[in-house]
Amino acid sequence: MGYEGETIAAALHALGIWEYREGLKTGRPRGLFCAIGHCSSCLMNVNGIPNTRICITPLKEGMIVKKQTPKGDLIEKL
Ligand code: FES
Repeated sequence: MGYEGETIAAALHALGIWEYREGLKTGRPRGLFCAIGHCSSCLMNVNGIPNTRICITPLKEGMIVKKQTPKGDLIEKL
């Protein structure tokens, strides 16, 4: 639910969803930090692609956005 063209992060914020993943070392919840694509705090799995920065990724109809497990998805991408 959101407007096509706005960022995925904006749509999630509008829905009250603030936690996007867990920190690698601590497992603590992570959300937006820089909101301009520089910090990687907002990494999520988008359409099966892990480590997508949702603060700069435009929302499109039919997207599947999932919280990712920190280590598993990073290893998968490498
Ligand atoms: S919040 Fe920093 S890259 Fe998305």
